[in-house]
Formats: sequence, structure tokens, C-alpha cells
Amino acid sequence: MRKCWLRLAPVVLALVLPAASGWAQNQSPDHRVDPAVNKPVDDEGHAWWQHAVFYEIYPRSFADSNNDGVGDIPGITSKLDYLRWLGVDAIWIAPMFPSPEVDWGYDVSDYYNVNPDYGTLKDMDALVAQGKQRDIRVLLDFVLTYTSDQNKWFQEAMSSRTNPKRDWYIWREGKGAGAEQPPNNWTSNFGGSAWKHDAASGEWYYHYFYPPQPNLNWRNPEVEKNMFDVTRWWYERGIAGFRLDAVDVMFVDSRFQDNPVVGNEKNAFGDPVEHEINDKNQPELHGVLQRLRKVADEHNAVLIGETWTNDIDQLKRYYGKHSDEVTMPMDFMFTMVNKLSPPDFRKQIDWVDGSGGWPVYVLSNHDIQRVYDRYGDGVHNDQIAKLMASLYLTLRGTAVMYYGEEIGMENNDPKRPEDVKDSRGRVGWPKDKGRDGERTPMQWSAEANAGFAVTAPWLPVDERYKTYNVSSEKSDSKSILNYYRQLLTLRHTNKALLDGKYVALNENDSNVLAYARSYKGQNVVVVLNMSGVAQKVKLNLAAKGVEARSAKTLLSSFGAPERVSLNEISVEAFGAWIGETE
Ligand code: GLC
Repeated sequence: MRKCWLRLAPVVLALVLPAASGWAQNQSPDHRVDPAVNKPVDDEGHAWWQHAVFYEIYPRSFADSNNDGVGDIPGITSKLDYLRWLGVDAIWIAPMFPSPEVDWGYDVSDYYNVNPDYGTLKDMDALVAQGKQRDIRVLLDFVLTYTSDQNKWFQEAMSSRTNPKRDWYIWREGKGAGAEQPPNNWTSNFGGSAWKHDAASGEWYYHYFYPPQPNLNWRNPEVEKNMFDVTRWWYERGIAGFRLDAVDVMFVDSRFQDNPVVGNEKNAFGDPVEHEINDKNQPELHGVLQRLRKVADEHNAVLIGETWTNDIDQLKRYYGKHSDEVTMPMDFMFTMVNKLSPPDFRKQIDWVDGSGGWPVYVLSNHDIQRVYDRYGDGVHNDQIAKLMASLYLTLRGTAVMYYGEEIGMENNDPKRPEDVKDSRGRVGWPKDKGRDGERTPMQWSAEANAGFAVTAPWLPVDERYKTYNVSSEKSDSKSILNYYRQLLTLRHTNKALLDGKYVALNENDSNVLAYARSYKGQNVVVVLNMSGVAQKVKLNLAAKGVEARSAKTLLSSFGAPERVSLNEISVEAFGAWIGETE
């Protein structure tokens, strides 16, 4: 959760809970379907992505086909059958473009090629084609806010103040008598000033992240044209869409005003904490997103947003007033609920479910500590992994998984500063150890290096791999992997889970999160015991207009009986029960 902490720290989450949850509030799920993009796949008018499960792949760590210790594209292709078996419908691959790797691919030096570490364009074409055969769509990561300083565009921009590409980036004069101070007080998300001095021209350029990641100037129409062309080029190669990286920082205040400083606090990098009102969330952003969406629509593609927001209104804006911006803005406020707290989850789900847009749930990714140890108590982590899976995979909306969550991978954080590969961890050590821990190699088997590679992998494999790996878990009917698989099968086949309204139940319970998914008289009920004590739950369904006394168990994490009385559902500590009313 480090990243969220850093990016949201100064902001008070001053949110107002909608008046009531339940039927009334949830009457109108978003059934709008854009005719160009999204052919409805069911009577409700839902499009493929609304029923799909997305799976994020960190290419360096997923599967290594040539045993060099680094994952690659042919490696991903070789695992498509596994992903189909699991129930994944689309993969989003974190950046696989050529890159000097100062930020592991989020510094792109060429948007029209594949990083040689990962393969070739031909390999990418093969992946798309093989995916198509298995009904798995491929999405890429569009790093559109900044490029690498090694990108030829920036090299040209650097070459002189009058170069035509100079204005593709953000340049300013420094402050002070000799212009020796940065143009304003904005700080980089990775520590220090967000401005770097260019000795040759005497000007400073702006980088919200590392200095080698100069921000593009999206106010220049040529930037927009060229970046949109990048997406067209990939759509024409069969890419089904993009995850849009760091959209909140695409624009900065055109007057370059200082950010207000919040108190005397310092962040992990020793910088003052700022209220980021001038370097984030500028209104022009939404115009670009609308136009980018049009291009996506023309190619039948979808856009997932890395949409960090402070409140539900900001999140709503990303959907667009006419559902015409980001197809799937991920709700990161959900990931900010950092403890097993039914009231906090309930509140967050109510907001998002009632927002009018189609919710997109995510619990972990390459920037966020893994679920296993984030919510785990050190004793019941396996149960808790199943509990959390039962949450984000049964809500109304689209779920985005992160590789390895399905086998209970945990964070394997570096122990010594000299082992850190994420530059952010190098700068932030020891307060911020970086994100290596959530990016370690996928654990495929109990063999050496978890079957990932024969050579030592680029990051160390978690030592629990002998038990927590795909091969061993496949043959254990009680494993986290088999639980995920059953859950995904249920999610894909049960009409109430596909299309049903979200109905909060037992809203005053602080131990158990319970809700129904209700579709034309069919009710699936989900009961999640977030406490370490077994609970007997009486579901108050009548209050929500549902007349039912018993239910048949569809899935439980603890071996619940086939039928249960809704007056008394026994749920083990950290247990999950999913049933259908009769
Ligand atoms: C995005 C990526 C993150 C990266 C950052 C800066 O937030 O998700 O991994 O470090 O951009 O490039």
C-alpha cells in the first residue's frame, strides 16, 4: 500500500455516505452499452468486459521461456492454457516496450516495439493469436503521461530550445537570481524536486516520477496526435485495449503555482507533504480521455484506468458524464481499506456500486502489497486469502486480479538495501522498501526457483514456494488455487452473480460483511466472516423484500453443509459462505 499512502497522504478522505443502501439505491446499474465498442452479450445489455475477469501480468516475473531468469512474452503464451483453466478472460501486461528500466518498463523508449528481454513483435502477434483461440484478450499498459529520457522524442527535445519537439515536454526557467532553484515546490512521487536542471539549455524539465521519466506536455496537440497513433497501431495488431497509466498526473496547472504544504510532516523521502492541487487532476485531462475513448471505440477496444482518486466524485468523473471516458476506472479507494473491516468495505462498496458507473474492483497489483500478508494475521492467511477472493469476485462489477494471488503468493520484500531493484525502494529505504516484494517470480512448481527459471531469477522466489505453487495446489482440492477456480466458474455461470443487483445485508454487523446479488427473483447471498471468531449469522432478508428461509450452499471456504437455514448460518473464523436462496 505504499504507493497509495504516498499519493493520497495529504488528502482527507472527506466522503459522504449515500443515505441508504439496498434495493432503492441499487435500482439502476449501468446498462448503457456503446454500440461501437461493446456488443451486448446478454439480455441486460452487458458487454464482454463487464462479465470478464482481468488478470494483470508483470512480464518480468510471470514465465520465463528461455531460462535467462527474466519472464518473457513466449512464456506468457505458454501459460494461456493455465489461465483458461483458471477462468481468466483477459490479460493486461505491464509495460513490455523497450525501456532502460529505471522504473521497470514504466519508462518507455519506443512505443512501437517489444523489449528484447521479452521477445519480439512476432512473439506479441503470436500471443494475441493464441489468446484469441482460447478466448483470452490481450491488453497492454499505455504509459502515456511521460516517456523515458532515452526516448528519441525527448532526445530531440533536449537537443536545443528551438527543436520542434522541445514543447512536447514541460520546460521552465528556474527561480532565484541565477535561476538555480527549481521553478516551483512540486515534489516527485519518488522523492526530491519534480524538476531536473538541464545544464545545456539552462532550463528545467518536469518529471512527476523519476528524473529519467520526463512528463509529456499534453497541451501540445502533436503529443496527443502521436500518442493516439500509438494506440491505433497496437489496436490494428489485435490488442483489445489498454490500461492507462498514471492518468491523474497527465496535466499540471498551466500557471505552475506552488502546492500548499501540509503541516510540518515529512514523507518517506524526507520531503514536505504537499496538498497536490496543482500537479494533479487538472480538468483538461477529461477532454483527452474522451478523445482517447473515441479512438478505442473505433477499434472495439476498452480502457482500464489507473485512477487514483480521493473521493467518489473524482472517480465518477473518470467514467465521464456520458460514460464516454475510461471504460473501466479501477476503484483504488477499495484497496485503501487496509484491514478486515466490514463497515469500511460496506461503505466503499455502497459508494462505488451507487456511482452509476460499472464498478471495477482490484485488491492488489505491482504497486500494492499482496493480499496474503496485507490482510493476513500470520495464522489464518490461507483462509483470509479465500475470504478476500470471495469478496472481490462476487461483487457487481469487473474484477482485476494480480498474478499469483490465486496461489496465495505473499510479499517477499528485500531484506538488505543492496538487494533492492525498485529505484523507489533505494531512495526510500528503510521507510519505503520499494515494490520488489509484490513482483517476485510466479511460483509454478516445487522445483528449483519455483519452476520459473533454471537460472537465478531477477528477483528472489518466496521461500514458501514448495507448498504455494500452481502444480502442488492443482492437486490439492482445498488449495487457494482450487478455491479461486471454483469461484471463477461460479461467477461466470451464475446469472445472479453476473447480472444481479448488489444488496447490502445486516448493515450494522461489524464482524460479518453480508450481501445479496439479486436477479429477477434469484438471490445469491454472500457471507464473509472478517473476524477471528466463528459467527452464527441471521440474515435479515425479509427487510429487503426477499421471502426465503433456507439456501443451498454454492461454495464455502470451510466445508459448510449443503443446505443452511438463513436464520442461522454458521461461518468459521475468516470463513466465506456463498449460497442461493430457495
Ligand atoms: C504507475 C505504475 C508504477 C510506476 C509509476 C511511475 O503508477 O503503476 O509502477 O512506478 O507509474 O512510472
